[in-house]
This record gives sequence, C-alpha cells and structure tokens, in this order.
Amino acid sequence: MSSTGSYQPRQFNLSGLKGISDQTLEMHFKLYEGYVKETNNLTGRITEFIKDGKVDQDEMPAYSELSRRLGFEYNGMVLHEYYFDNLQSGGGTGDAAKTSQFVKAAEATFGSYDIWKTDFVGIGKMRGVGWAICYENPANWITLHETGNVAGFNPVLVMDVWEHTFLLDYQPAERPKYIEAFFSNIAWDVCDERLRRGLAARSASL
Ligand SMILES: [Fe+2]
Repeated sequence: MSSTGSYQPRQFNLSGLKGISDQTLEMHFKLYEGYVKETNNLTGRITEFIKDGKVDQDEMPAYSELSRRLGFEYNGMVLHEYYFDNLQSGGGTGDAAKTSQFVKAAEATFGSYDIWKTDFVGIGKMRGVGWAICYENPANWITLHETGNVAGFNPVLVMDVWEHTFLLDYQPAERPKYIEAFFSNIAWDVCDERLRRGLAARSASL
C-alpha cells in the first residue's frame, strides 16, 4: 500500500456554491491538505521501516500503527478529491437530468431515481461521522474514511457528511439542510463520466 511517491494537494476551482459557504470550502481545502501532508509523512516513515527488507519484532507495533493510520489518511485524501470533483462551482441544477447516465443506472438498480435518492439521503443522515458514497452499484456508508469501502467498486457520487462540512453554515442538528444544499451543487456530468469509465473498464476486462 505504501510507496515512495509524494502527493501534491490538488487545487479545486470551487466557490459560490448554494448553501455551502466559501468560508466552509476554504476551511475544507485546508483539512484536505492536512490529509495529503499526513499521507506523505506516513508513507515516508513506513518506507524507512521497510528499506532494510524486514520488519523486526520490536518494530512491529509502531509499523502496524503507522500502516493503520495510513489507511485513514490515504482514504481521507482520495475521498475529498472525489467529493470536491463532484461539486459544481457556482452551484448545480439540482437533481440529475432524466436523460443522464446516472438516472438510467439508478433506475436499473433501484427502480427509480427518487428511490435511489431516498436511500442515499437516508445514509447521509445516519448518526456518526463519515461519508455517503454511491458506488457503481449500491450506495454505502463509510465510517471515518476507511471503514466500509468496498473493494473494486467505483465511487460515482461522494458526499462528505463529517460535521466540518456544515458547522459554519448550519446548526449541528441541521445536517439534512446541508444534504439538500449538497444536492443543489452536484456536478452530474462528472458522475456520468465516472459511470462511463467504470462501465468501459468492466467491459474491457470481460
Ligand atoms: Fe471533509
């Protein structure tokens, strides 16, 4: 999982969202940069442990903890990139267009877009900190950043529901308002593109 590569924080051209302030976004970009920094830091330290080709018995506890932390930080970095990428600067148009790839996929799996949305929003309202992610097939709840990801599934729509996403704009109990705001800012063309790439990769491997 570790590599010697060093990640650079990506810059997101994102502002003027509906119901999610620029102040929240700026704070959120800084948090994201923290995950990138920590991913690099842990990767570097793990690289030190393994460069002699072995992990000694006395090194194992520290090595294990660093590796566990890397799972948290690494997923924190990647999920934030998915999240910022599926938001539309200046605000979106609300629900996905009926002709979109996304609606077709939601209908094929859930029967209708509205039922898919009920599930996704319901997951987003679950108590605790984490993420709601719609993968190429089912929707899922991710605790923290790393627990609950499904191996090999393609994240199509990623919603951060940690409290830092809305506490500057809403009260702690107002998560549903944030989720509503999130929906009004989704870049559905990005979701469609992710779906197309996922389907293409799957058919290429058959
Ligand atoms: Fe976040």
